[in-house]
Amino acid sequence: MNGRGTLLIVDDEIGPVESMRMILKPYHHVDTIDSGKKALQMLSHKPYDVVILDLNMPDMHGIDVLKQIREEYDGVEVIIVTGYGTLSTAQQSLRFGAYDYLTKPFNVSEIIEVTQSAVRKKRLQQNMRNIIAEFLRKTKSGEIEEEVAEILECGVPLSPQDAFAFYRDFSLMDFIKVLSRILEEKSPSMHYHSVRVDRFSRVIAEEMGLSKKERDYLTIAAFLHDIGKVGINNSTLNKAGELSEHEWAEMREHPCRGVELVKPLCLPQEVLSIILHHHESYDGKGYPHGLTGKEIPLCARIIRIIDSYDAMISNRPYRKARPM
Ligand SMILES: [Fe+2]
Repeated sequence: MNGRGTLLIVDDEIGPVESMRMILKPYHHVDTIDSGKKALQMLSHKPYDVVILDLNMPDMHGIDVLKQIREEYDGVEVIIVTGYGTLSTAQQSLRFGAYDYLTKPFNVSEIIEVTQSAVRKKRLQQNMRNIIAEFLRKTKSGEIEEEVAEILECGVPLSPQDAFAFYRDFSLMDFIKVLSRILEEKSPSMHYHSVRVDRFSRVIAEEMGLSKKERDYLTIAAFLHDIGKVGINNSTLNKAGELSEHEWAEMREHPCRGVELVKPLCLPQEVLSIILHHHESYDGKGYPHGLTGKEIPLCARIIRIIDSYDAMISNRPYRKARPM
């Protein structure tokens, strides 16, 4: 990895802090602090790549620190390291967007590897954000057409399969994840929705013995299934009360809009099919086509179930999350 990352270790126990600092110092710039509140103050003064966060601290619980970091310092990755880990704290950490969750006593090579990977992800996301900002700027100025023409003249393969491979080699998945984060920025209730859909659907896919290809399609669709919502007004997406007839009609268009939006990525038809049909219902009362039962592609049915489950366990503008 080029360049050292900037890390902030937040833990009130001096022993683990010092050993982590010694382990990570050869690879990164490391600061330490003994409280959640002070950590938030430090973040407001210095751009850290990664925060390594203990959960049990006297002034502020680690989960609350994590939530605040997610709200105010979006690009910063957070690794939870705790000596009192439970299934519930692990679930909460991932639900509120932690990059990873490790338990004490930690394994030296694991903490080095996870930290390197979190710094790499943070840098990559920053690069992708810059690329997208540049892309949008060029789209507005018309320069993008010239670049596309140049690429085509260089002989980039044009068949959908080859184009998919081309994009995949250039980290299509990272680009897709950035697109989904851009969408999720529109609405607090959608934050990390796609990450959770991805994780839950992986479990189901493995349990069902789906092929590697199907699992790959599910992963891409987990991040893109709602991308069509990008064109929906924030006031509709974040409305606390009942949606009007007109607003519902707009909302129901998002699967079709999503397929239109991602067409330039030349994704496999199976992925487009999941995006298009992820709101169909087994009884035929879903949308956009009112398909029934097994007419609905299997992976679209999986995303539909996970999507509904995640909606139930998440806070929505119109109701609180239901307990898991
Ligand atoms: Fe959706």
